Amino acid sequence: MGLLDGKVAIVTGSGGGIGRAHAMLLASEGAKVLINDLGGTRDGAGNDASAANQVAEEIKKAGGQAAPNYASVATAEGAAAIVKGAVDAFGKVDILVNNAGILRDKSFLKMDEAMFDTVIAVHLKGTYLCSQAFAKQVVTQGGGGRIVNTTSVSGMLGNFGQANYSAAKAGIYGLTRTTSIELQKHRITVNAIAPIAKTRMTEDLPMFQGIDTLTPAHIAPAALFLASDLCGDRTGHILAVAGARLYAFKVIETPGKFKDADKGVWTAKEIAENWEAINKA
Ligand code: NAI
Repeated sequence: MGLLDGKVAIVTGSGGGIGRAHAMLLASEGAKVLINDLGGTRDGAGNDASAANQVAEEIKKAGGQAAPNYASVATAEGAAAIVKGAVDAFGKVDILVNNAGILRDKSFLKMDEAMFDTVIAVHLKGTYLCSQAFAKQVVTQGGGGRIVNTTSVSGMLGNFGQANYSAAKAGIYGLTRTTSIELQKHRITVNAIAPIAKTRMTEDLPMFQGIDTLTPAHIAPAALFLASDLCGDRTGHILAVAGARLYAFKVIETPGKFKDADKGVWTAKEIAENWEAINKA
């Protein structure tokens, strides 16, 4: 018995890196998997069907079921084709892992509009478009579903040189929270992972040199958990994974400080004087 027997999963950007690890693990647990990948370069240029084809073949050779798909997550037509591809191949959809991503890093003052727009289009708009197309199909089918998004430490905490990427990934956090609330009535859970792993996206960073303990295979079980019934009704969570370490990101609201009603509104000077108390968790 696999954790995902009888389920149909879409994993976007699963022609390599973390997405490939997700797809292989989901398939090994019984899911029929649509391997979506545009097959472009790390910065999103070009396209190549061989990435998705290879992973689909690997899964089939291992005894699993998979079909390739080459559409871009960044357009409405692409998102529709991805969901239709899964329905045409396997009859329905149950799980969507929004994983596709690109990088166009540049320090903020040097970042041009195209770098900003392209990264937002693939990560944030792609997650919105695929989630909406998937959720509409799940609502039509009935029976609920599971969405697993991909945010990032960069989005949750910020990172030098990644204003576009961190804005997109923080947007995915907001999208995860709101869709987790709205889709609850359709029994669709929406959670996100924040991974750290050595892939073509990160392999040239100093922190990954000589390191073999931060792999995509460490990340995939988190996606499997959130995509399976082991997750139960949990929704709106951000599960972070870096090698052997599992942790969570949460936005906190401090208790704050109240000003007596008869003393008027807070003044800017009083805000400065009470900064510590306002920020105390
Ligand atoms: P990767 O570059 O190996 O994989 C990304 C995949 O997405 C590629 O196969 C690429 O062809 C595909 N893709 C790009 N644009 C696409 C589009 N428009 N439509 C369909 N597919 C498209 O990178 P990696 O590291 O595996 O990244 C996977 C996800 O994890 C991304 O969302 C990334 O931002 C996120 N992430 C990765 C971290 C890491 O440490 N590797 C850290 C934090 C987040």
